[in-house]
Amino acid sequence: MKDIYILGIESSCDETSAAIIKNGCIDIATVISSQIDVHKDYGGVVPEIASRHHVKNITFVLQECLERAKMTMDDIDGIAITYGPGLIGSLLIGLEAAKTLAYLYQKPLIPIHHIAGHIYANSLVKPLQFPLLALVVSGGHTELIEMQDHFKFRKLGGTLDDAIGECYDKVARVIGLEYPGGPKIDKLAVEGSPTYKLPVPLKDDSYNFSFSGLKSAVINLSHNETQRGNSLREADLASSFQKVAVKSIVEKTKKALQDTGIKRLIVAGGVAASQGLRNEIYKMADELQVEVSIPPLKYCTDNAAMIASAGYYAYKLGRRADFSLNSLSSDKLQ
Ligand code: KG4
Ligand code: ZN
Repeated sequence: MKDIYILGIESSCDETSAAIIKNGCIDIATVISSQIDVHKDYGGVVPEIASRHHVKNITFVLQECLERAKMTMDDIDGIAITYGPGLIGSLLIGLEAAKTLAYLYQKPLIPIHHIAGHIYANSLVKPLQFPLLALVVSGGHTELIEMQDHFKFRKLGGTLDDAIGECYDKVARVIGLEYPGGPKIDKLAVEGSPTYKLPVPLKDDSYNFSFSGLKSAVINLSHNETQRGNSLREADLASSFQKVAVKSIVEKTKKALQDTGIKRLIVAGGVAASQGLRNEIYKMADELQVEVSIPPLKYCTDNAAMIASAGYYAYKLGRRADFSLNSLSSDKLQ
């Protein structure tokens, strides 16, 4: 059978990335240009600045990807592109680059939902097997999704307010840590003890999450301590926050696994890089005898390898977009 090479392009937030993936699983070349250093002075991603940097970087990222792969566009079978959700201005840069290449080299254009990309990051490790439950934990999403087959997504629940990554980043800001705060909280948490009492979010029978109450509790706690002239025990706060946030995620995931009887769990998105979350997920899955897949750290946060991997399966299903494809800030996972 002929090998299929998909070029993936991702620019939904502050990473400009291109990757070439063979047969959905072999990483031939992945290039990621991160803008973290640009945005950290502002405490978060500034959309206008992000778009300008994508414009500056996209051509070099694509060129470097082809060079590293020792390939030309003639070797590529299809171009997979993140069309949303994300920052519109950022998405448009990747989308225009993808359309231009597809037009110029007469290649199929394959539309990929960003969250589908995060889920398919797991197929870079091992092909997905169904049925499975996907726990998506990123800067913009916190969702539990059931999949019976490729690109058959059924949302069981999701956050009612803030996404978990957003909450990590906000708590980090309160503690005085630089953007993105998630990895820093995760590191600091192991140095402290969970001695601050924080509310456990949304203890109910649904598969939904809620993190705004927890976020507000951390902000209030910080203000109260300052007013009392007490200094914040930063590592203890990171540990207390992470314990409660992870507990909420793991308990809802456990319930979804028990109720559906699904024996395969995949974790996806930037917060899947959290060691605190990984440890508790593995413990819970062990108890339920559920097989777990979590991508290596480099495929957890935004990257084009996951888009190209999803693109391979979408290509095989005949999914194509024409040149009217537009970027979307939010869209149903499909
Ligand atoms: O998936 P992602 O790269 O971008 C979105 O699609 O949103 O996720 C970014 C989020 C950020 O909120 C970041 O703080 C969080 O993932 N993150 C982490 C870790 N690494 C990244 N959160 C906790 N622990 C980590 N090690
Ligand atoms: Zn993402």
